Amino acid sequence: MSGHFFWSGMPVAFLPGETIAAALLRAGIADLGRPDGHLPGGRVFCGIGACQGCVVAVEDAAPVESCLTPAQEGLRLGPLPATGAGHD
Ligand code: FES
Repeated sequence: MSGHFFWSGMPVAFLPGETIAAALLRAGIADLGRPDGHLPGGRVFCGIGACQGCVVAVEDAAPVESCLTPAQEGLRLGPLPATGAGHD
């Protein structure tokens, strides 16, 4: 099913069978934001669920690996919130 989800409030179109990461990259969104200094930080790196670089926040749900998670209509996504790690 195709449709739109939201990245930091901005609508992003997805195609049938696309993952969240694929739709974001196709929309030109490569910086997924990881303000807490994780490496690899805030981007799709491995594409197979191993590096955690693509984890994004989901409104009212647990964070997901965007490279593995199918896009769904109406999802509200954004960068993970800062944890404060490394900001002393
Ligand atoms: S890109 Fe590595 S877990 Fe998604």
